[in-house]
Amino acid sequence: ELDDDGHRVFDLAAGVGQHDLGGGPMETWGYNGDYLGPTLRASRGEQVTVNIDNQLPDPTTVHWHGMGLPAAMDGGPHTAIGPGESAAPSWRIDQPAATLWYHPHPHGETEQQVYRGLAGLFLIEDEPGAALPLPDEYGVDDIPVVVQDKQFDDGELDASANFLSGVGILGDSIVVNGTPSPYLDVTTERVRLRLLNGSTARSYDFGFADDRRFALIGTDGGLLSEPHHTTRVMLSPGERAELVVELAPAETATLRSYPPELGVNAYGSRFGGGDDTLDILQLRAADQLAPRPEVPTDLVEVPRLDPAEAVATRSLQLGGSHINGQRMDMSRIDFAVTAGSVEVWRVQNADGTPHNFHIHDVQFQVLSVGGAGPPPELAGWKDTVYLPAGVSFELIARFSDYPDPDIPYMFHCHLLRHEDDGMMGQFVLV
Ligand code: C2O
Ligand code: CU
Ligand code: CU
Repeated sequence: ELDDDGHRVFDLAAGVGQHDLGGGPMETWGYNGDYLGPTLRASRGEQVTVNIDNQLPDPTTVHWHGMGLPAAMDGGPHTAIGPGESAAPSWRIDQPAATLWYHPHPHGETEQQVYRGLAGLFLIEDEPGAALPLPDEYGVDDIPVVVQDKQFDDGELDASANFLSGVGILGDSIVVNGTPSPYLDVTTERVRLRLLNGSTARSYDFGFADDRRFALIGTDGGLLSEPHHTTRVMLSPGERAELVVELAPAETATLRSYPPELGVNAYGSRFGGGDDTLDILQLRAADQLAPRPEVPTDLVEVPRLDPAEAVATRSLQLGGSHINGQRMDMSRIDFAVTAGSVEVWRVQNADGTPHNFHIHDVQFQVLSVGGAGPPPELAGWKDTVYLPAGVSFELIARFSDYPDPDIPYMFHCHLLRHEDDGMMGQFVLV
């Protein structure tokens, strides 16, 4: 909806409701009366305003994961909205078409709030005119697939961590967009799936039950420069992937998660869900499928950031609820970044528990993984990467040009129990 100034306006009311995630209605949290929230869609150049109403019993925030925007609008833990209060963050979208998402970020409570159902997609739409022959009819051949794992206790959502889990809550019931045992009626020869790992702890290694190939066309921050034809894509919590898969008339294809290679010792892998195979979504093709063109061999320009432009290089070691030996402290700013500048961050999982790494405000590029160039699935725009133990990642990013010495942005492990436990730090733009 556009207001009188041509701004795109959305309304999100966070509240408690009832939803059937499997086995009957149970208490869940969500936006606008739903489990999860609406898919918000806007285009580059648009000014967006979101009217947020907190009808929860607890403080919350809404963080725009993957978005470049002023820190005051970012929905981090410093901008909590109390119960019964509201907020109206507003910013101009200035980044490529992408599958982003939103979720709460109140300090220490993020895992619980996301797990109960507060999350949604935010799509930055393809620029008109620049349209590629990709499936782009939302809900028809362009499908949001928010994947989450749940566990239940006595018909209620069970938000306690499993015995021995090193990562937080792991459930073995899958919901997609809040629906248990999900299937999709496919009516076109090719379908684009926008996968979000919306789980708090579980990593997935997505593929199809028959091992068919698909085209990976996009990652966290937008389309790849060319499609990567593959049979698997691993997503840790918070990561996204866009893929295009082809179906034959009347067939059924099952999207599955194979045991993810967590790159940690057997205990870390087992207690991180590394042994699990889970069916995610059934695609049921109609007897007649509308034609859809092949995925083009070239997608978009992904201009490479140049390390020679970097004005700072930082090293961040993640281990034992700490980053560089320190736990998140709301009153400690870890460092200042020059607004609009390019930096290189070297990040490493130093303790052999599953971790990933997310930076607010930016889409970064992976310069190297263990000294080698990035694999195809890490060659595009990213805001979250899985960190196998001991492997050093070099990331490069250009930060926004929104100086604010008072309100920080976060960087953290996106396994939300780890984030809540303090594996998070803060930077300001100056
Ligand atoms: Cu998706 Cu700091 O979060
Ligand atoms: Cu974020
Ligand atoms: Cu972690």
